[in-house]
Amino acid sequence: MSDKVFIFDTTLRDGEQCPGASMNLREKMEVARQLQRLNVDVIEAGFPVISDGDFEAVHTIATEIRGPIITGLARCVAKDIDAAGAAVKAAEDRARIHVFLATSKIHRDFKLKKPSEEIISLTIESVKRAKAIVSDVEFSPEDASRTEPEFLAEVVEAAIEAGATTVNIPDTVGYAVPAQFGELIRYLKSNVKRIDDAVISVHCHNDLGMAVANSIAAIQAGARQIEGTVNGIGERAGNAAIEEIVMAIKTRSDYFKDFHTEVNAREIVKSSRLVSRMSGLLVARSKAIVGENAFAHSSGIHQDGILKHRETYEIMDPRDVGWGETELPLTKHSGRHAMAKRLQHLGYQLSDQELGQIFIRFKEIGDKKKFVYDDDLGALVDDSIGLTRETWQLDYINVTSGTATIPTATVRLRKGEETLQDSSLGNGAVDAAMKAVDRILKQQGHLVEYHVTAVSSGKDALGEVNLKCDFGDGRLITGKGASTDVIEASARAYLKAVNRVLHQGQYTPEKEIEFLEAAGV
Ligand code: KIV
Ligand code: ZN
Repeated sequence: MSDKVFIFDTTLRDGEQCPGASMNLREKMEVARQLQRLNVDVIEAGFPVISDGDFEAVHTIATEIRGPIITGLARCVAKDIDAAGAAVKAAEDRARIHVFLATSKIHRDFKLKKPSEEIISLTIESVKRAKAIVSDVEFSPEDASRTEPEFLAEVVEAAIEAGATTVNIPDTVGYAVPAQFGELIRYLKSNVKRIDDAVISVHCHNDLGMAVANSIAAIQAGARQIEGTVNGIGERAGNAAIEEIVMAIKTRSDYFKDFHTEVNAREIVKSSRLVSRMSGLLVARSKAIVGENAFAHSSGIHQDGILKHRETYEIMDPRDVGWGETELPLTKHSGRHAMAKRLQHLGYQLSDQELGQIFIRFKEIGDKKKFVYDDDLGALVDDSIGLTRETWQLDYINVTSGTATIPTATVRLRKGEETLQDSSLGNGAVDAAMKAVDRILKQQGHLVEYHVTAVSSGKDALGEVNLKCDFGDGRLITGKGASTDVIEASARAYLKAVNRVLHQGQYTPEKEIEFLEAAGV
């Protein structure tokens, strides 16, 4: 009998914590729906107490998503636990509260300034508080892999006694190595009373590039829940990439005979692309499973081998993870109905108003390029969703540039009925367009990163601009925009970043530290 390994997706919580990745509610909902199709077992939808936006996202996901368990994160602080409980309540019997508290000596001494006895009592108190709200409670001793094993066993035992149904062992700073991490799980299995009353989970970070290997070692040692993110996004070097764990278990089922996952692997590539679009975080071409080159064979010997017998150089069939599922492209002659059907097939759930906006852009693009591919459509959706009467939209852009002129841009923006226009010179056409936006909105953004990629193939391909900007508060804000004209795509991407800042309000790292200290954790 093979055991099920539960897949706990934290793309919307730990993944979203990644600098520049922050998503708005609309974007989070698209990701949550895709995670539902991917058939993950648990969606960690956010950290409800941290902001109204996080609370709303967790609450909306708990209300609308059916199938996976929905959880919200909470520190061992009453108001965190209550907020998480209120946010996940709508998921009814699929509601989980995830409580965490640091346990390692370095965190006890320097961050929490609390003795070990207090860590134990806070754990018990907090798990009990969460248990009074929902029956499904997960407890995470943060920095578990650097905690003294004897003390870790004590904390885990206390959490289970208090009612935790899942105990998660985080490798918070990516310090573990596979054999040792597996040993730690075995140690807990042999030294914690009633350990079989809870599911053992692991949550690995990728600082040494071993998050997936550590997760697999933990499963071999008895863990039955794995936490990770799509594309491995997350703090610093990221979290364990779910698609890699799932495909390692599936591809090597000859070796991993004792366990399996129930993830719908054919949705992997779609999930990867959607998360990349929604978070603005590009996937490296060589990334396993989901990178553009993951199944590309360039050497003649390999190509020859593949043609003779695919398995000579391919250990997985790319179609099994959803590569190559593109259908016939649309053209400018395709109607709104055909476009809407294709978008629905691609998994987007769009309102009539959004479809209307996308159709206008679709027609513009259709006039400029022969075929509109699925990826082009994805880029247009990304450009259009989340645009409301409260967001600034690009109404018009005119740029002059050349070897003998000073680049100049005139931009008109629209928000609801209001339109504003201004012009600016710049060091180049993109710079001029951004400065014109800045003049209109009386702000100043600095471009930190800028990439242009072709969304589909051919001379007339849509250019997609990905950028990161700093608006003076230390955060990196991402923006993405697409057009057949890269200057227009740049202006759209910049405006997306501007709208994110306006939507999120002013942030300072000092404010966050103040908030954490006020909570005493
Ligand atoms: O990395 C970590 O320790 C976490 C916990 C909150 C589970 O993200
Ligand atoms: Zn984490």
